[in-house]
Amino acid sequence: MEQYYSIRGGVPLEGTVTVSGAKNAALPIIPAAILCQDTCVLENLPDIHDVEALRAILEKLGVKITRTRGGCYTFDTKNINTLDVTFSEVSSMRASYYLLGSMLATYGEVELALPGGCVIGARPIDQHIKAMRALGANVYLDESRNVLRASAAKLKGAEIFFDLVSVGATINAMLAAVKAEGVTVLQNVAKEPHVVDVANFLNMMGASVRGAGTDVIRIQGRKKLHGCAYSVIPDQIETGTYMIAAAATRGDVVINNVIHTHMEAITAKLVESGATVEEGDDGMEYYLRVTMRDRPRPVKIKTAVYPGFPTDLQQPMMAYLATANGISTIEETIFENRFNHAKELRKLGASIHVAGNRIAKVRGVEQLRGAKLSASDLRAGAALIVAGLSATGETRVSGVEYIDRGYENLEQKLQALGAVISRKTV
Ligand code: UD1
Repeated sequence: MEQYYSIRGGVPLEGTVTVSGAKNAALPIIPAAILCQDTCVLENLPDIHDVEALRAILEKLGVKITRTRGGCYTFDTKNINTLDVTFSEVSSMRASYYLLGSMLATYGEVELALPGGCVIGARPIDQHIKAMRALGANVYLDESRNVLRASAAKLKGAEIFFDLVSVGATINAMLAAVKAEGVTVLQNVAKEPHVVDVANFLNMMGASVRGAGTDVIRIQGRKKLHGCAYSVIPDQIETGTYMIAAAATRGDVVINNVIHTHMEAITAKLVESGATVEEGDDGMEYYLRVTMRDRPRPVKIKTAVYPGFPTDLQQPMMAYLATANGISTIEETIFENRFNHAKELRKLGASIHVAGNRIAKVRGVEQLRGAKLSASDLRAGAALIVAGLSATGETRVSGVEYIDRGYENLEQKLQALGAVISRKTV
């Protein structure tokens, strides 16, 4: 049975929403727990399908996982009983690739199905493979089975200069290098908040990772890591999605449990478009308050690696700019095919011209009007939800399964802000 979201839009969002743990930090931190062959307590894991899927994969490998409360779990990784990670669940998600670095470092070998995930371009993993090989692993791609086989008698620290800045390759290399013999220097690395969060988690396990958040990460390998308790950072992209939804509906929303510095690129663009973004601290946690009353002014967006404008928010931002007072330009520089949402937004009356898959010109219209839409990937889904919330009449968004991958309790959180949204089954 297929599910869809039914949204009766045009209601300004008002109230308070609390951000969940970061998907893109949780997804590498869970497989990183393997590195210590001990017990780790992970807090603030978001209740989303990708996390659930990864937990199920780890359980299949023999990891004992216990939910203690809410987003808090213990992972006992002492009894992993197979190095064969080729079952079908593995290829249904992107982040399963983090088992390459963590299994290789811990067991010296792994057989891993190639990752899947959102279809937003080719998404090769050559930089991951390059890093493992540089650390001394033999990596063989069995194309007939879509399986990667990696083994190393001993991983050895190395200097690795990435050809491009990749979140996944940076983290995978860190996972492998923390137990390699000697020093590893990773250059031209990703600086995203979740890269830093993974480094902090590894250091809590006794690793020595220095420089995460800069262009160069230095790692002194350790023979053994130990268990620890760690709380995952708030989700930058979920925060940004609610910021954009608040502005798109001309609402007034307080977003709790945020890290202001992670949001600077989004805050800057929302302010440039005419929204008010207030940064605050209520004594317990940091919050952002986003208020918007008028049609946005058009802005130029160019996606970039952190601290630039995140590609994951380019899609919701397009939905917001669809009602701007003029022509906005959106340039996507990270993924080669990330404008699938544009044709869906047009069904709501948006005027968007996409040139050559990289640049979109959005001529703002006064009002979007409800229509039946289909999400093609996670953040496209977020974009269609944002658009539906600001459109008049009913918008239906199918492809809920993509949205469930990355947003915890989306409809409950939006309902609490006054949105008329429900999940229906056909
Ligand atoms: C991660 C995030 C995703 C986010 C993206 C960019 C997870 C699970 N996913 O994806 O939400 O949109 O970062 O912030 O954390 N590339 C190569 N070769 C490689 C690796 C990457 O060519 O070996 C290319 C990719 O195709 C893409 C670019 O580099 O064009 C950036 O990709 P990368 O940062 O690796 O993104 P992911 O880790 O896949």
